Amino acid sequence: MQDESSKMWKAATQAIHVGHEREAFGSLVTPLYQTATFVFDSAQQGGERFAGNEPGYIYTRLGNPTVAELERKMAILEGAEAAAATASGMGAVSAALLANLQIGDHLVASNAVYGCTFALMTNQFARFGIDVTLVDFSEVELIERAIKPNTKVIFCETPVNPHLQVFDLSAIAAIAKRHSLTSIVDNTFMTPLLQQPIALGIDVVVHSATKYLNGHGDVIAGIVCGSEAQLHRVKYEILKDIGAVMSPHDAWLILRGLKTLDVRLQRHCDNAQRVAEFLEQHPAVTRVYYPGLKSHSGHRFIGQQMRRAGGVIAFELAADFTQAMAFVGNLKLFSIAVSLGDAESLIQHPASMTHSPYSPEARAAACIGDNLLRISVGLEDCDDIIADLSQALAALV
Ligand SMILES: Cc1ncc(COP(=O)(O)O)c(C=O)c1O
Repeated sequence: MQDESSKMWKAATQAIHVGHEREAFGSLVTPLYQTATFVFDSAQQGGERFAGNEPGYIYTRLGNPTVAELERKMAILEGAEAAAATASGMGAVSAALLANLQIGDHLVASNAVYGCTFALMTNQFARFGIDVTLVDFSEVELIERAIKPNTKVIFCETPVNPHLQVFDLSAIAAIAKRHSLTSIVDNTFMTPLLQQPIALGIDVVVHSATKYLNGHGDVIAGIVCGSEAQLHRVKYEILKDIGAVMSPHDAWLILRGLKTLDVRLQRHCDNAQRVAEFLEQHPAVTRVYYPGLKSHSGHRFIGQQMRRAGGVIAFELAADFTQAMAFVGNLKLFSIAVSLGDAESLIQHPASMTHSPYSPEARAAACIGDNLLRISVGLEDCDDIIADLSQALAALV
């Protein structure tokens, strides 16, 4: 474990070093404790550990040293007291919400969120008597107006999937505090290196670690960060019984991915900025959504709430559905795939893919049209990315 000086390190240094505990052999890299269970010295010791009277591991669903190192690192990076690693981003979203909601409760959420988060809140929670009101979070007064006596949680992502609108986290945190609600923010698109919601007053941060945190497209995983009290509920009241915990191998891969997060993000952001500027001036593109562009409503938050604009861009083509699909098919470097934050540039069609759980009406309200495409700009040489987009766009003009 590092001494107090590690608190003064910059995030890029922390992403590599913090949370690491020297083990018996002095391994530089965190060992992978690929075990389901842990052996007790005696039956008495087992009982004491279950009773919480003695520290130590019991069973990997309840805790594992490799996973614990990732949790320590993520808590420090997010400026949180504690973190819990989950089996997926949706595991993190559900655990954070379930830890704060019960039958008869109400939550206020942004009307534009990742498709499965939308489905969880509108379909699954309805079955358990939890009510949701979806509003446009870019108008903060709508959030306050939607609060009812039984409201317990405010939830959003920023930037939003897929339009990259940016919401004012300090204003959202202030509303939550004024009404004694728990604020939960999905920080997947930014990672703690580009945005730290807890420093702005948000209570709980969730991530799909599948994306930038891991960064190599080979893991499905999630993280919840917040206070000790919140994380105690998430770990020992929700994840323990629901079982959506992260495997040690996935934690090990994410720990490896985090070491390069800072350099990867710099390249993602540099590439995305150039690609967004290229798309914005192209005659076959009618609109580009990227907070790094001066034309984007979220641009004023760059350098303040968010350090940079990230690696995801959405854009609309001067094309109908068939032409948009043909454009996607003509790309050679891009892979047609959902997900984001990988080394490879990816393209997807939100209306038929990530946001297909939305009803047509909800999709229209969230402005997810048939000609909207979302790209995750990868780590390739940006000249090659732009050349690929350019040759596929040429067919549309
Ligand atoms: C913003 C956001 N949150 C949560 C998720 C869900 O993450 P996972 O696929 O790891 O469950 C996604 C997936 O794309 C996402 O984009």
